[in-house]
Amino acid sequence: MAEYDYDVLVIGAGPGGYVAAIRAAQLGLKTACAESRETLGGTCLNVGCIPSKALLHASEYFEAAAGDHMAHMGIEVTPKLDLPKMQAHRQDAVDGLTKGIEFLFKKNKVDWKKGRATFQDAHTVKVGDETVTAREVVIATGSSVTPLPGVEVDNDKGVVVDSTGALVLSKVPEHMIVIGGGVIGLELGSVWRRLGAKVTCVEFLDEILPGMDGDIRKEARKVFKKQGIEFKLGTKVTGCTVSGDKATLTMEPAAGGDAETMEADCVLVSIGRRPNTEGLGLDAIGLELNKRGQIEVDHEFRTAVDGVRAIGDVIPGPMLAHKAEDEGIAVAEWIAGQTGIVNHDVIPSVVYTHPEIAGVGLTEEEAKEHGTIKVGKFPMMANSRAKTNHEPDGFVKVISDAETDRVMGVWAIAVPAGTMIAEAALAMEFGATSEDIAYTCHAHPTHSEAVKEAAMAVTGKPIHM
Ligand code: FAD
Ligand code: NAI
Repeated sequence: MAEYDYDVLVIGAGPGGYVAAIRAAQLGLKTACAESRETLGGTCLNVGCIPSKALLHASEYFEAAAGDHMAHMGIEVTPKLDLPKMQAHRQDAVDGLTKGIEFLFKKNKVDWKKGRATFQDAHTVKVGDETVTAREVVIATGSSVTPLPGVEVDNDKGVVVDSTGALVLSKVPEHMIVIGGGVIGLELGSVWRRLGAKVTCVEFLDEILPGMDGDIRKEARKVFKKQGIEFKLGTKVTGCTVSGDKATLTMEPAAGGDAETMEADCVLVSIGRRPNTEGLGLDAIGLELNKRGQIEVDHEFRTAVDGVRAIGDVIPGPMLAHKAEDEGIAVAEWIAGQTGIVNHDVIPSVVYTHPEIAGVGLTEEEAKEHGTIKVGKFPMMANSRAKTNHEPDGFVKVISDAETDRVMGVWAIAVPAGTMIAEAALAMEFGATSEDIAYTCHAHPTHSEAVKEAAMAVTGKPIHM
């Protein structure tokens, strides 16, 4: 008789957890996955990546039709916004994909244990009313919105919202204030701006998109400003009062100074996310968190407690779905006795605005700390496809080691930058030099030729500039 009910119990069915569970089952391990939500797919499929991209895509079409972009090419239309229908499109996308995971669980014989999981001991977890034992438990509980003291979120009311509330607004705000110029603020701020809202972004730091390459951050702000988003940088929000359907925000310069107020009919709090560990019963297994509230793991995703591993947003590293997925595959492979690899130095990140903003590897600032570097840049304005499509904004930047020419980082602002960055990630994974990229034949006319020309610019020889 088996000592445990399961070989593997995964807690959380987000991109980390559901991928870990499916891979474990594929590798012949008896697997269950606990999820407290009504649907599988975690933050990403339910209230994150997928619904936000559904609205970004739809609002992009709306803006293209409403502005002069299509008219410029001889297509005259007068679009009318049907927001309930756009919201139904968002929900359809979510329903289709979350049901898809349910199908994959059945197909791969992963048992879904419905309910909130709490550790009793390292191999025993209570899920709802059921007690489940497993040889290995994988914590993949993800993250949730970081609250801002003094600014109380009420998604039902829709005046002060977090990302979940901002995805389901039933009317276009007249004025939306976005607190935090990070990924969520810029993506969801863009959605509502395109649909007609005035958007003001209040950012604590002196520049938006912390963590990204310095040139990219500056250029991104220029592009968003041109699109109509107003920025208040170096500004700290200190409080918010709501009266009826209006919010009044109090803010002051981050460096200190006079306070000011600003009114809006929608405030989006998007100042980051924090790991979900509350109520998991980590005390029962003696597992401590680091200073940032994350669970520390080794390269096999083992925590300090035998038999308990962790992946995804709940451990250190970028809070990204593809990082969680890759860790999900790797952790299952380790549990099955194989070698699971995630190269944490080559994880692309993408902001799905228009144009998109993407990067992989080191920023120029970080690369300089490692030694002497070479940098090649190529503007999208000089790329034939982007120019033809009236998409002149942005550039590609390739950073390589001055001595070895090995690529250390690639950054891009371009309409399909998220797709373009995949080749840079692959090149870096194979240890490519900028010359390797420069001498790789790229199809013409594609935006990706800008990656090749930026690589050519590293040694000073692009053709179209
Ligand atoms: P999660 O997806 O958060 O899943 C964890 C799951 O665990 C949840 O379903 C939760 O209900 C469940 N859970 C928690 N505790 C328990 C418990 N005790 N018992 C049972 N179940 C539990 N990333 C990208 O890469 N690209 C994007 O475009 C992107 N867009 C985003 C847009 C928004 C608005 C947001 C909020 C996030 C976005 N992200 C994006 C980030 C991405 O969603 C996360 O990085 C990813 O979901 C993390 O996966 P995870 O499996 O670690 O956790
Ligand atoms: P973020 O960390 O990207 O940005 C938060 C911003 O808020 C930062 O610029 C920070 O300086 C600022 N800030 C912090 N406190 C503030 C304050 N009191 N007042 C004003 N500004 C303040 O966090 P965000 O946008 O909430 O997203 C959370 C995570 O979700 C991201 O880290 C990302 O990993 C993930 N995500 C990824 C997406 C993607 O891959 N396209 C899309 C959306 C989210």
